[in-house]
Amino acid sequence: MVQINENYLLLKSNYIFAEIDDRVEKYQKENPEADVIRMGIGDVTKPLPKAVIREFKHGVDEMGQAETFKGYGPYRGYDFLIGEIINKDYLPLGIKLDIEEVFVSEGAKPDTGNIQEIFGIDSVVAVTDPVYPVYVESNIMAGRGGLMDEDGKYEGLVYLPCTEENDFIPELPETPVDLIYLCYPNNPTGTVLTREQLAKWVNYARENNSIILFDAAYEAYIQEEDIPRSIYEIERAKEVAIEFRSFSKNAGFTGTRCAYTVVPKELIGFDTSGNPYSLNELWFRRLTTKFNGVSYPVQMAAKGIYSEEGQKEIKELVRYYMENAAIIKESMEKIGLNVYGGVNSPYIWIKTPNNMDSWEFFDLLLNEANVVGTPGVGFGPSGEGYFRITAFNTLENTKKAMERISNLSF
Ligand code: MLT
Repeated sequence: MVQINENYLLLKSNYIFAEIDDRVEKYQKENPEADVIRMGIGDVTKPLPKAVIREFKHGVDEMGQAETFKGYGPYRGYDFLIGEIINKDYLPLGIKLDIEEVFVSEGAKPDTGNIQEIFGIDSVVAVTDPVYPVYVESNIMAGRGGLMDEDGKYEGLVYLPCTEENDFIPELPETPVDLIYLCYPNNPTGTVLTREQLAKWVNYARENNSIILFDAAYEAYIQEEDIPRSIYEIERAKEVAIEFRSFSKNAGFTGTRCAYTVVPKELIGFDTSGNPYSLNELWFRRLTTKFNGVSYPVQMAAKGIYSEEGQKEIKELVRYYMENAAIIKESMEKIGLNVYGGVNSPYIWIKTPNNMDSWEFFDLLLNEANVVGTPGVGFGPSGEGYFRITAFNTLENTKKAMERISNLSF
């Protein structure tokens, strides 16, 4: 008899965005005429930049010629891309990285989901709440979560609530933790941490021998000067933090797939006897067994982002989505809702009106305005009573959706 991994039975039946898809599909079947505007999953709508397409095509052409054809690529990714990442994403911030500290991958989602594999099963994991569900669910699948209590919290995890009451800034954990997932600019609340607030976490991790898993997938959306773009801007963060970045949201790679993860050589973990091991080497060891790299044309496409033209084009993409964010924020404020995020992030986090629960508000918007968002509770128990709207839509749809919501009476 084949036994399943019973940890999977501890998961909610559906991944949040799959659940939304099911509900929208059902609604659309029953209401084929409805012009539904999707502002749920943070999926981009603008095409890839021209500079990206040019390099993408170039890469494809090279694969068709005997002289330039490529088989398996280097495990960590091609140096031509890693070099650009180091020189253009990190050096301007005063951060020096070694070529062996950057790992090109097919997404920040798989990397943030897989990273827990290199840590002991007894590691205590802390997550902000609400949180990108991948961090929680990957640890549940691995067996670190235990049962879910009636508040919707896994008893094996440490939850750090982020709500209106604390301005969405998580408090340091009250009990010792080993792994801390932080995502800034935050998904889903759209809020950011200042340098001082982030430094508090780095200090905590240094004092408590913890590792911070820092998801910076939305870094390109930071507009305010003094907000840190990388955790390594904080002194000695390389001793305690792994950083995840992605080309999905800044350059429209959600369907193309390319990202990278930085694992500094300073990072150390221990075996049960207290012997130190390099986390960089462990992550490399994992990926040599489980991964054969991102395709050559896709890495070429990602290289295109770093050309002068590519840099201009991605700035324009971000500007476009941030204009939508401003429209959403303003429209929702105008109808009297409490609105967060949307300033340094493409996500707008709304307190639902009249204490409606998240799914109730979801149903209301779907049924009455044909607008889809994401119920806050889908990101964790502290998300109950909140709702996320993404700015990743066309300007036209954003305006239309806001007009429809503004015409509702709550
Ligand atoms: C989201 O909507 O939270 C994101 O699109 C999910 C993701 O990037 O995987």
